[in-house]
Amino acid sequence: MAESRIPLHVGLIMDGNGRWAKKRLMPRSYGHKSGMNRMIGLAEHAQKVGVKYLTVYTLSTENLSRPREELDGLFGLFRKYFKTNVKKLYEKNARVKVIGNISALPDDVAKLLEESQASSPENADFTLVFAINYGSRAEILNAVNRAIEDGKKLDERGFGSLLYTDGIPDPDLIVRTGGELRLSNFLCYQSAYSELYFTDTLFPDFSDEQFDKALKDYASRERRFGKVQQ
Ligand code: FPP
Repeated sequence: MAESRIPLHVGLIMDGNGRWAKKRLMPRSYGHKSGMNRMIGLAEHAQKVGVKYLTVYTLSTENLSRPREELDGLFGLFRKYFKTNVKKLYEKNARVKVIGNISALPDDVAKLLEESQASSPENADFTLVFAINYGSRAEILNAVNRAIEDGKKLDERGFGSLLYTDGIPDPDLIVRTGGELRLSNFLCYQSAYSELYFTDTLFPDFSDEQFDKALKDYASRERRFGKVQQ
């Protein structure tokens, strides 16, 4: 694939872990664990094929009202990932960034997320962005309130700098697994001109080959950004 056709930034809505586990008569937490392992593989693959930013929707603001048991399972996975697995990512010259309101998470998890960002390599050639307790509406409201406090009129660049994604380019492609056809409060401002790709595959089954298929589909599209065809 020509390098210019590889999306710089891919957003990934990792849906379907619960259904994947249910089909196997296993608890939802087993689906999330399998989802985490798949995400680790996909991040490695995305870096290999030349994607520079991969944003994974790991926990939405709305997900925080899920049953305690499921949340505890997810927090356990965060602890495991950010204490251990993340080191492999650093070794490959990749860094971690977190977007979302992490102050609402258990203190030790929030601290781990801060530490992971701080110990990420500088000048990394790949960024894995974790959207955790993230919601576009909360992000936009937070930015608007900061702008009001500053009392300044903003242009797009100024507004962008108040979002959690400051410094991260807009996603070129958003992929959603699990069969639903919506964005679910994920990067709504940033995805104004993103290409969207949906698949019925449940996230733990979403292979590297299927990711490549999404990239190929993206490469075949013509992006006009509201302009007429040249
Ligand atoms: C949505 O599927 C998925 C989530 C709410 C969590 C996604 C989390 C992971 C893949 C684990 C990542 C962990 C780390 C540490 C990066 P769902 O459970 O709502 O699926 P369903 O629609 O089938 O119920």
